[in-house]
Amino acid sequence: MLAPFLPSERGIRSQPWNVSSNWLSVRLLGRLVFVEHGYSQVRGEPSVFVADYGQLSMHRLMLRDCVRTEAYREAILAAVRPGDVVLDVGAGTAIMSLLAVQAGAEKVYAVECASIARVARQVIARNAVEESIQVLEGKLESIELPEPVDVIVSEWMGCYGVDENLLAPVLLGRDRWLKSGGIMIPERVDAWMAPVWDSALHSDMGFWRSCPCGVDLSSIADGTAQEVLLGRHHVGEESLLAEPKRLWSTDAYECSVEEARLPFVASLSFSVTRQGQVSGLGAWFHADMRQGVVLTNAPGGAGTHWGRAVFPLEETIEVCAGTEIDVELTCAPAGAGYSHARWSVQVGERPWEHHDTRRDVTLFQNSVGRDA
Ligand SMILES: C[S@@+](CC[C@H](N)C(=O)[O-])C[C@H]1O[C@@H](n2cnc3c(N)ncnc32)[C@H](O)[C@@H]1O
Repeated sequence: MLAPFLPSERGIRSQPWNVSSNWLSVRLLGRLVFVEHGYSQVRGEPSVFVADYGQLSMHRLMLRDCVRTEAYREAILAAVRPGDVVLDVGAGTAIMSLLAVQAGAEKVYAVECASIARVARQVIARNAVEESIQVLEGKLESIELPEPVDVIVSEWMGCYGVDENLLAPVLLGRDRWLKSGGIMIPERVDAWMAPVWDSALHSDMGFWRSCPCGVDLSSIADGTAQEVLLGRHHVGEESLLAEPKRLWSTDAYECSVEEARLPFVASLSFSVTRQGQVSGLGAWFHADMRQGVVLTNAPGGAGTHWGRAVFPLEETIEVCAGTEIDVELTCAPAGAGYSHARWSVQVGERPWEHHDTRRDVTLFQNSVGRDA
């Protein structure tokens, strides 16, 4: 069952890649790339795509992201001491488990619920570390560990941090097995947002609304405006129209499992810093991994496979320095691997516009300018 958007009073919560992929950046708005890289549409949810981690293509994408792997490698080296016991939550191909063994871990429990666990076993065997790494196939929620652990490592971040809905299982593992004084990797993840100019989004929305071949395809534009667009590699520092603001902050030691299961909610006000056109709201994460090691997909940072997320507006809007943009955003954990998002935006004196990934494509009409 899908999680409802529950009201929350928490507000701000305490809590390169080396792929030559111009074609990927250019075509990410299309479905082709999602299929190619292992995303699939959630049944009955026209605007929600979820990574299918049973597919090797998803893991190829992550493993080729050397910025990501290097950040984890450094953090694991800083955290794991010889003889440590480590839990790898959502181990995938067991890359983090292998890095933990390299760092001196005596035992690693690699928990993975998707069929990629079979590949993990092969990788472990080829590296001759079967003695040190035990693959536990199943959901973290349903497995048992024979002993407490010194370190928990997990790559649970979606494009803007919490959106892949993997945080709660990681925290459950912490509550059940992390020793007192044990270490979490990453230690803290913040999500950030700023109004952006997204040239590809602008161009695509214009196309859908241009009656190509004499056919009214504006429904496609209406539907696109209800999707959180992922992998926006072309949205860089030069695309930002205001100072970024923090959406929320997740402390891996402090955040409770219950909090991780509730919607993440933020209200932000931006003041535009230059004349331009706003086509959406860009979002990304900043992860403090361990002892100064940072992993981020922020605009201007080293390229990663995540790119940026963009929450589209209905249409591109002209802005100038001083234009106020108010945003209400909710990211609600939903099914395994995905969340629903709802965002309302007011640009200057224009009426609020409202977006919701759960909205059925047939219900989109007349959503521009609808009051809250
Ligand atoms: C982002 S991938 C990371 C894979 C691998 N750790 C890496 O860094 O390449 C997250 C993995 O977590 C797994 N996963 C998601 N929810 C899980 C759960 N509740 N229990 C165990 N594994 C889970 C997914 O199947 C996926 O392989």
